[in-house]
Amino acid sequence: MLRGKYTRYEKLYLYAIDGIDQEFHHLDDEDFIGYWEEEDLSVLFFHRAKDDLVARLLAKKGLKLELATCVPYEKWGEGRQITPFKIGPFKWAPQWYEGEADFYFDPGVVFGSGTHPSSRLCLKALYQLWQQEGPFGQVADLGCGSGLISLLAAKLGAQVLAIDINPLCVELTQKNLRLNHLESKAQVQRANVLSLVPYRAEVVVANLFKGLLLDLFGLPSFWQNRFYIFSGFVPSMEKELKEALKPYAQVIHREEEGGWVLYVAGRRR
Ligand SMILES: C[S@@+](CC[C@H](N)C(=O)[O-])C[C@H]1O[C@@H](n2cnc3c(N)ncnc32)[C@H](O)[C@@H]1O
Repeated sequence: MLRGKYTRYEKLYLYAIDGIDQEFHHLDDEDFIGYWEEEDLSVLFFHRAKDDLVARLLAKKGLKLELATCVPYEKWGEGRQITPFKIGPFKWAPQWYEGEADFYFDPGVVFGSGTHPSSRLCLKALYQLWQQEGPFGQVADLGCGSGLISLLAAKLGAQVLAIDINPLCVELTQKNLRLNHLESKAQVQRANVLSLVPYRAEVVVANLFKGLLLDLFGLPSFWQNRFYIFSGFVPSMEKELKEALKPYAQVIHREEEGGWVLYVAGRRR
């Protein structure tokens, strides 16, 4: 994430490593962006090339470099040509935007630049649900990414539980909450979302992938909440997902944007 002398991203220098190490979390280097950990693979992100530093580190740890590459920031992940956008009455802008906005966020290098249709669908659905059914005491944001959904839920007055398996997402969500003076409204936890079921919340938002949604849907104790907002899937996956949720919940609103689908579901009584 952005820190020190850096106020925006230009190029990303990535080093993918076969293995993980706790020391990677706390690299003391002014050009360090962050450390991404996924199963047995780690990726170090820098603003500048760090071949020597990484080679030294890997030699010390006995780990192997899988890939070293450089990507322009705007081409990374789900796309990073980030301009301010509006959801309901709220204007969202990246941290470096100089105009007025309701939310400022560091999009980092994780999912959550705000450009992806599934993120925007979730933000819009949460706002509309709050208008119709709110206020909400507690909201759970499963797979929080950069924390956009958590920011909105906190601004709308809820106490938020934000969860992500990727340590970089946890760090970035905490930063973005601080950037918007909302840190007292949220708890951010690194965990597998499956391990914390059941959630105590009126609304559960889960912008995840099909396999993980199906795993959650298969846990009867997942279905204790009043409302659910799901996204992260495409129309060809709907039949399977609908079948899996049918015994427990009812889809009360469906939306599609840019080939991505969103459901708002209510628990069956
Ligand atoms: C599609 S992104 C959504 C990010 C954000 N909520 C948004 O809408 O912009 C999914 C997120 O889920 C996280 N994730 C994937 N598998 C997970 C798991 N088993 N437990 C917790 N988080 C997970 C990923 O790290 C990623 O940040």
